Amino acid sequence: MCGIVGYLGDRPAYPMLIQGLRRLEYRGYDSAGVALVHENGTLDVFKSKGKVADLERATQGQDVSGTIGIAHTRWATHGEPNDANAHPHYSQSKTLAIIHNGIIENYNVLREMLRNHDYTFQSDTDTEVLVQLIEYIKQTNHCDLCTAVQLALHEVVGAYAIAVIEKENPDLIVAARKSSPLVIGIRGNERFLASDATPIIEHTKEVVYLNDEEVAVIRRNEPLQVVSLDNVVKPLHIKMLEMNISQLEKGGFPHFMLKEIYEQPRTIIDCIRGRINPEGTDVILSGVRDHQDKFLKAGRIIIVACGTSWHAGLIGEHLIEELCRIPVEVEYASEFRYRNPVIRPNDIVITLSQSGETADTLAAVELARNSGAFIYGICNVIGSSIARATDSGSYIHVGPEIGVASTKAFTGQVTVLIMLALSVAKLKKSISPELYTTMLHDLQQIPQLMERVLKLDTEICDLAKIFTYAHNFIYLGRGYNYPVALEGALKLKEISYIHAEGYPAAEMKHGPIALIDSEMPVVAIATADSVYEKTISNIQEIKARRGKVIAIVTEGNEDVRKMVDYVIEIPRVDERLIPLVVSLPLQMLAYHIAVNKNRDVDRPRNLAKSVTVE
Ligand code: F6R
Repeated sequence: MCGIVGYLGDRPAYPMLIQGLRRLEYRGYDSAGVALVHENGTLDVFKSKGKVADLERATQGQDVSGTIGIAHTRWATHGEPNDANAHPHYSQSKTLAIIHNGIIENYNVLREMLRNHDYTFQSDTDTEVLVQLIEYIKQTNHCDLCTAVQLALHEVVGAYAIAVIEKENPDLIVAARKSSPLVIGIRGNERFLASDATPIIEHTKEVVYLNDEEVAVIRRNEPLQVVSLDNVVKPLHIKMLEMNISQLEKGGFPHFMLKEIYEQPRTIIDCIRGRINPEGTDVILSGVRDHQDKFLKAGRIIIVACGTSWHAGLIGEHLIEELCRIPVEVEYASEFRYRNPVIRPNDIVITLSQSGETADTLAAVELARNSGAFIYGICNVIGSSIARATDSGSYIHVGPEIGVASTKAFTGQVTVLIMLALSVAKLKKSISPELYTTMLHDLQQIPQLMERVLKLDTEICDLAKIFTYAHNFIYLGRGYNYPVALEGALKLKEISYIHAEGYPAAEMKHGPIALIDSEMPVVAIATADSVYEKTISNIQEIKARRGKVIAIVTEGNEDVRKMVDYVIEIPRVDERLIPLVVSLPLQMLAYHIAVNKNRDVDRPRNLAKSVTVE
């Protein structure tokens, strides 16, 4: 995780870097820091534990002049979050400063080697080892900074996106990446670098995405140059960014998370746009159309993801098995990558990732690649590492998701999975024309239905007041709603810090029902679907043990109202699409409870948006 940003141009670097850090703060907020080379040839590092605002306080009254600088916002991996471990890190002679996102796995060995050459260390970080190594190589080989960086990176095992500046050279930034993202923006003679495009978009739309083991040599008033670790010049592929700045602002909402919850009717429209024909009678994902043979011959589909994306994957499993009759397995990427899984050449591996940078999911792609399987990526961030590493795929097109707790990306992923299942089912003729038509019709109604559900906000806000001080929650669902229960519980725990568990409703009697008493709130999803009656029996079992039940039901259901303590009604929709609608009240419930508890909703403790470490 961690966010890195850099600037070289004719304007003061500091305001640009601070603004960039604010945009990247979602990637980590344990500490922040900035390094600047001033006109008088000094190199200063300012850093502070805490958020970007703490860094700003720390730099008050300091000389923050200079038109070249690098900055960092940290999610701690090696070393606790404190001032010393904050980036940038100086080299021993204080002539170099580095920022780094990633992990240097062999830092212990390198540190011992450097200690034997009289290097001492001010921090516990792997990053400081790297900058000392660069300095050591530069001094012993009498080479320039770029060569020293290239040689140092040859010695490194691990993941990195780095940027290095040096005291003697106010006209040069050397940056490089491997397995951690790095984008460079170009505007005239100005160069911007960042972990993703969000700090760059307000300055330019022209960007270059660095590939693994590439080094960017950013020199003042010279064209950007990209070289390999062995100094072979690489062609520049300049891309145009599609997002705009208003997508990165809160737009009048108190939190990004609430804004993103409210954006969902529009993001679903963006997600399906161009994929359903103008008559609304047919859907096809181009990634499926272009690789029909792979889907027609697929022996099995393996969906690999983490966290919320994994929950979306579980919904995908239901959809694909039911509609396409292809066996599906859903795997945690972190487990999949280390257990030597059987992957056959006629398997399809689908990876789901909002950020497109999750280290475990990316590693799963690499593993799948070696097996000869076809790899299909479903990502949000355009040009992200996973999107580029897969054979084909579909973007979810929900725009930047800034709130650390995923909301609109989840519904976007489910929407793409619905379209994928429908596209493949039609190709395979495994779906009846009636069901195809109903699902396609209902899919196009989803934005309107979501608008109606958003109107429940006040009701859900009142409900949240009743349960703000609960210590535990249980979420129940069956069938398509089981993954939604898992996701509802995850939303609550990650932003409110209340312990919450999701279960398939019928599993309660195999153990968890022992937890039920009058103090235990249970959110039960009991919508009109093929397992409705079964779910009702499970709710009765909870009520018999005096559990407090909040039931989410389909509009007009009076039976459940008589049975439970609180009811949230959602509009009727085809069962396979219910997750898209029922997720919203669960997101809103978690949001309001977290706000009542005064939590940092957009930046919950210990989390980061993009998990680029394993
Ligand atoms: C929770 C959440 C995480 C992510 C997970 C995977 O709200 O956002 O669980 O879903 O870290 O991230 P991506 O989808 O970027 O691979």
